[in-house]
Amino acid sequence: MLIDFHSHFLPQIDDGSRSIEESVGILDIMAKSGVDKIIATPHFYCTEQSSDQFIERRDNAYERLRPELKEEHPEIGFGAEVLYDHSLVNYDKLPDLCIKGTKWLLLEMPYTDLDDKIISGVEAMTNRGDVKIFVAHIERYLNFTSMKRLDELMHLELLGQINAKSLMTFKTRRRCMKLIEKGYVHVLGSDYHRIGRGDVTVDHGFEVITKNKKFDDFAEYAEENGKKILRDESLNSIL
Ligand SMILES: [Fe+2]
Repeated sequence: MLIDFHSHFLPQIDDGSRSIEESVGILDIMAKSGVDKIIATPHFYCTEQSSDQFIERRDNAYERLRPELKEEHPEIGFGAEVLYDHSLVNYDKLPDLCIKGTKWLLLEMPYTDLDDKIISGVEAMTNRGDVKIFVAHIERYLNFTSMKRLDELMHLELLGQINAKSLMTFKTRRRCMKLIEKGYVHVLGSDYHRIGRGDVTVDHGFEVITKNKKFDDFAEYAEENGKKILRDESLNSIL
């Protein structure tokens, strides 16, 4: 079962798909790549909207797309890519932004040094008990913060996702492999936004990773993790 945990294919809800036609085109690409399940994770910025407004907009976008869906398209799940903000730590509606049917929240870290205040904010989020965090494209933050800071973050026992596209170029591939080696990567996502942007489906990411003998069983590992996330199993069963 091939699962894509991070995508922006819903039409006209964020900086992803610009039309229903483009959304269908993205899902056609996913189907061709053998993706069985895709989680729609539009951007959520707490400074711009409430979770209720976000969910209403996400539902509307899906309803507009629904009549155009094809038999061969992957099954669709619903979530959000939630940009971290200190005000979210105590936001009572945070669980509404998790992958539907689970307590798993896709958290995007701010593009800055991950200072003590941010790390302890994420720790407080995990201590709430009503959300479990998996971090979006963990490879990206190393452009803004040190490995030491990323270590601190991931040692809060969070799950990590990397983008398939990051495995396509030498520098970011090396970085991704290092993060996999550290045990920080549990699932992949395409972070697919638009056709023609160079986004890459997860099958290609798995192909690159498993070519490396050290990680030749990574696809099965990620598949198991993915199924457990969707069944809302605990972190212990995943790590
Ligand atoms: Fe994204």
